[in-house]
Amino acid sequence: MTAQQVIEQRCPNFRPRVGVVLGSGLGGLAEQLTKVTAVSYGELPGFPTPGVSGHPGQLLLGRAGATPVALLQGRAHLYEDGRADAMAVAIRTLAGLGCESLVLTNAAGGLDDDMEPGSIMLLTDHINFTGQSPLFGATGDDRFVDMSEAYDADLRRHFLALAAGMDLVLHQGVYAWFAGPNFETPAEVRAAGILGANAVGMSTVPEVVLARHAGLRVAALSIITNRAAGLSDTPLSHAQTKANATLATDQVRRLLTAFLSEYGL
Ligand code: HPA
Repeated sequence: MTAQQVIEQRCPNFRPRVGVVLGSGLGGLAEQLTKVTAVSYGELPGFPTPGVSGHPGQLLLGRAGATPVALLQGRAHLYEDGRADAMAVAIRTLAGLGCESLVLTNAAGGLDDDMEPGSIMLLTDHINFTGQSPLFGATGDDRFVDMSEAYDADLRRHFLALAAGMDLVLHQGVYAWFAGPNFETPAEVRAAGILGANAVGMSTVPEVVLARHAGLRVAALSIITNRAAGLSDTPLSHAQTKANATLATDQVRRLLTAFLSEYGL
């Protein structure tokens, strides 16, 4: 059986409209859903086995308001086994189940002075510094995915309007994808900044490419958990990433819940 068949069997007649991928330290956002069912990635052929603490590894189906949502609690990263397509089955399954849009969240290091740890940044675009694509090996002309409007303008407008209505500061900027798992060097961060990046991180970009390939509209939010390497004296660590992600949890929860429950209204 395919992952999609397993899910459809478990939850017949549930057709999610929006998929969500929750990044490091954001798993708690799942509490906002009126849950229908939970399926662990282990039961879903082709889904990753998340090996990073802060990434539990289950799919939740539920509702935010009236909107049916499929929420991926946990992702795989390029640095885990060198595969950029680790999330391919998961993203294609969301599309196959009926999702029209995908909202991605991640933890990232910030480059801009006004993005304190705990800030939230809406992605306007990205730069892929890894040289990897999740579509290596794909065949068919649709592998030549147009990335010129990867981050959907309507979904971005919706997020910005919701944030303004909540008096919540939502920064906007370009996310630069580094392979990790080591953090960037200060020189890499300076280079990324010169080339137009506002934040650096180790995820999200392959999922965006996969989602665009699958015809999903995409929005993405970075939780700025630290100033990027070289921009502060605080040593970088995953413990800090997880701890500081919680600084923004309440705001992201409000923003995401409003976005999902008002989706398509
Ligand atoms: N760099 C890369 N990934 C990250 C960072 C960072 O500074 N912070 C959280 N995830």
